[in-house]
Amino acid sequence: MGYSQLGFLLVCCSVLVFASGSSRSLPVLPFDEGFSQLFGDDNLMVLRDGKSVHISLDERTGSGFVSQDLYLHGFFSASIKLPADYTAGVVVAFYMSNGDIFEKNHDELDFEFLGNIRGKDWRFQTNVYGNGSTSKGREERYGLWFDPSEDYHQYSILWTENQIIFYVDNVPIREIKRTETMGGDFPSKPMSLYVTIWDGSDWATNGGRYRVNYKYSPYVAEFSDLVLHGCAVDPIEQSSKCDNAPSHETIPTGITSMQRTKMESFRKKHMTYSYCYDRIRYKAPLPECVIDPKEADRLRVFDPVTFGGGRRRHGKQHHRSRSSRGKATSI
Ligand SMILES: *[C@@H]1O[C@H](CO)[C@@H](O)[C@H](O)[C@H]1NC(C)=O
Repeated sequence: MGYSQLGFLLVCCSVLVFASGSSRSLPVLPFDEGFSQLFGDDNLMVLRDGKSVHISLDERTGSGFVSQDLYLHGFFSASIKLPADYTAGVVVAFYMSNGDIFEKNHDELDFEFLGNIRGKDWRFQTNVYGNGSTSKGREERYGLWFDPSEDYHQYSILWTENQIIFYVDNVPIREIKRTETMGGDFPSKPMSLYVTIWDGSDWATNGGRYRVNYKYSPYVAEFSDLVLHGCAVDPIEQSSKCDNAPSHETIPTGITSMQRTKMESFRKKHMTYSYCYDRIRYKAPLPECVIDPKEADRLRVFDPVTFGGGRRRHGKQHHRSRSSRGKATSI
């Protein structure tokens, strides 16, 4: 092969590399610089590139990690590839919380992926708690427009003083605006980012009908492109250190009108549950809900079996206690 051909090959391939990484200019953190293992011993594995990490669930334990810092507002993101095949009962969570510091009045923002039986798709839900408002779950549940076990997809949370936006592959899927009536239910204290995989047999799939089957374990969830972009704060000393890198063009600041159209279309097609329409759980919708009778009709066909009595449990206390017995690093 002559030099010119070689040159062509190099150009062609570097272009490919560029084009394939939609998150190429996101400020991606090496695992060791931003995170610590939370629990799960060697069920957490950092890959050789230092930036990708696999967490797994087997009959011994799940696993997880947590950001070393707490953040007040910011953009938090990961590319995730979920386990394939039979995954009923398996929960993969990508969430922010300060439950370890504010036990009675914690804040939380969740992505939770719920496995399924073979041939049925993963589903996911988002949730928001502010200042300990756990009796007022604000869950929404959805399907995806792709198979999340086939490839990496980007899941992100933008949290500012006045709004929270959940994204899937840069498509906003949920927006929460701070309203007067929400009061303290809008998260407003520094939170850490958590990533966990655990056994949610009791509720995750059809309200607990299908449980984790360890014959198919280990269940491995793959993470890369970990982004923690915000102000790291020390809630005790009240000091903060911000990521002052020049504004990254790939970090969103709000929803454009084109994105809003996409968000509405996603919600029409893929949302299967919203707390705003759950009249068993809330006789009167929570104050921020805007009720659309057509949406109510559409959602009525889905069975809110997991939510009905407000009996759902996260199991987070559960890993916390498990982790304290293991060799979990400090958080
Ligand atoms: C959060 O809860 C605490 C204790 O319950 C209360 O004192 C405080 O005013 C609440 N904060 C907001 C913003 O509502």
